[in-house]
Amino acid sequence: MEKNSCSNSNKAHIRKEIRVEVRKRRKELDENFQSQAESDLCMNFTQKINLPKKTAIGIYLPNDGEVRTNLLIQSLWRKNHDVFLPVIHPFSGTHLLFQKYEENSTMRENRYAILEPELNCSEICPVSQLDILLMPLVAFDGKGNRLGMGGGYYDRTLASYYANGWSKPQLIGLAHDCQKVSQLPIEAWDVPLPAILTPTNLYRWQGNEANSDI
Ligand SMILES: Nc1ncnc2c1ncn2[C@@H]1O[C@H](COP(=O)(O)OP(=O)(O)OP(=O)(O)O)[C@@H](O)[C@H]1O
Ligand SMILES: [Mg+2]
Repeated sequence: MEKNSCSNSNKAHIRKEIRVEVRKRRKELDENFQSQAESDLCMNFTQKINLPKKTAIGIYLPNDGEVRTNLLIQSLWRKNHDVFLPVIHPFSGTHLLFQKYEENSTMRENRYAILEPELNCSEICPVSQLDILLMPLVAFDGKGNRLGMGGGYYDRTLASYYANGWSKPQLIGLAHDCQKVSQLPIEAWDVPLPAILTPTNLYRWQGNEANSDI
């Protein structure tokens, strides 16, 4: 019991240290680098991810030095895909809803000062009906393990993803290349990613691959 709780607290400590180190790394990326990374990511996505017509795509607005998604969102809009952004569930406060995002959407700041589209029940897409979910992350390793900002929002929202054997959404993490670490201490609730796209690479893992059409 004691040994277990000690190793658990050690794991929590290492996860915290990795978050601090990698967040610092990406916050230090300068404007030129971020801007180039944004356009490279958009080009890499377009070249490597094959999208059927009118795809429902969950994505995020960048925060905290995350790789910027603005150009990619504009490119998805231009091609008539449906874009959804995460909104913190107003009642549970622990799960994410995915709300349609359009150029004229009314936006509000959430508790982390991240912009979210104003909630409109008729424009929420259940997570199981998203075709692709592009997820932010703080760090990833060579096996597709993912460490987020520590809120557990994506993990909770996707908890039944494997349990129920859903065929979608296809999960793809988005990150800067410098967010790759040699190894992540994972927890039972961490949802691994079958693919991660960076401005220069598309990493894919056979073992936890949910869908093979990319
Ligand atoms: N499926 C789940 N059910 C209940 N609690 C969960 C679940 N997944 C994660 N949590 C809780 O969320 C907390 C944060 O989890 P974790 O450190 O993995 O966050 P994260 O993956 O960095 O964040 P995010 O998922 O928002 O990107 C954990 O302490 C855990 O207790
Ligand atoms: Mg997690």
